[in-house]
Amino acid sequence: MNDFLIPASNPPAKIKPGHIAWRSPSNIAIVKYWGKYGQQFPANPSLSMTLENAYTETHLFYKPRAANDEAINYTFDNQKNRAFEARIQLVFKSWKEYFPFLDTIHLDIHSKNSFPHSTGIASSASSMSALALCVVALEQLIYKRFTDKEFFQKASFMARLASGSACRSVFPCFSVWGKTDHVEGSHDAYAIPLERFHPIFASLLDDIIIVSSDEKAVSSSAGHVLMNDHPFAESRYTQARRHTEELNQILKSGDLDRFGEIAEMEAMTLHALMMCSQPSYTLMLPNTLTVINKVRDFRRDTKLPVYFSLDAGPNPHILYPSDINAEVEGFILNEIKPLAEEGKVLKDHCGKGPFQLS
Ligand code: PMV
Repeated sequence: MNDFLIPASNPPAKIKPGHIAWRSPSNIAIVKYWGKYGQQFPANPSLSMTLENAYTETHLFYKPRAANDEAINYTFDNQKNRAFEARIQLVFKSWKEYFPFLDTIHLDIHSKNSFPHSTGIASSASSMSALALCVVALEQLIYKRFTDKEFFQKASFMARLASGSACRSVFPCFSVWGKTDHVEGSHDAYAIPLERFHPIFASLLDDIIIVSSDEKAVSSSAGHVLMNDHPFAESRYTQARRHTEELNQILKSGDLDRFGEIAEMEAMTLHALMMCSQPSYTLMLPNTLTVINKVRDFRRDTKLPVYFSLDAGPNPHILYPSDINAEVEGFILNEIKPLAEEGKVLKDHCGKGPFQLS
């Protein structure tokens, strides 16, 4: 289904006040989205693993809008947050043509994250996917026009307009965003779930090492823009296309070592691109590199399949299958935890995807 607009011939009946709530997780890209065009379309396909424990819960209370009501009231952690509210207003502006019924509705939106404030976890994927799911659920309540598949496709489409990587959080386990001839149904406008993968990948654990919770010096939005004139842009996009294609095969075959190689190459490429952008910038910190080197040494010494990834920030994700949890536990505790800010390590894993709370 590519029709994300509501048919004009279908005006909504006057809505009764009600409440919808969704929980939606964050995700870690194994193949990274870095660079975009047009209205938040990706310059290359990306492939991610949906998390479970790092999530946002969003409650949406709706009622008919009175003459002098504002359109939206927003709180985060039960408090007004002007910066977040301004971002949400912009998101609704970009959604306007897809949700015309909102013109006559007042929304009270309350969000909270499972992960504590300032842990350096990018929350836009979980928060924007949770918000998109709530509003598409409201559309479904009014128009009843979606099958399950269409519902999640529209939620992914709307989440993408809010924050690119959020479109992948709408699905469990693994999803692909961005057109590639090698993944049937893939699209630049929304993500699709990958339904066939070896059970070893569903068992992946992800320990997120909070090396620093400081706000990033350069935002992801600014980083995407720097790809426009980047000297390595074209070769990067070619590499990402090849990695997506190969990873899609690997997920089926169960080749964990090659999965890990690609995950690490993608993380290092992302940060190398930042370092040779103009202007150049660095988001890795000394302890980021120490963690990376320790993971490599541990893997060499033990022959265990333990790998790292990085988001656009200094905090490594350590990925390994659950059947070696006992062997990895001591390594994380003794060698990695001391490198984290206040010893913060967030335990997460390949997740089941979002779900409706009410
Ligand atoms: O969705 P954005 O605009 O915050 O960009 C996210 C980019 C990375 O997190 C670095 C990679 C990705 O694909 O998630």
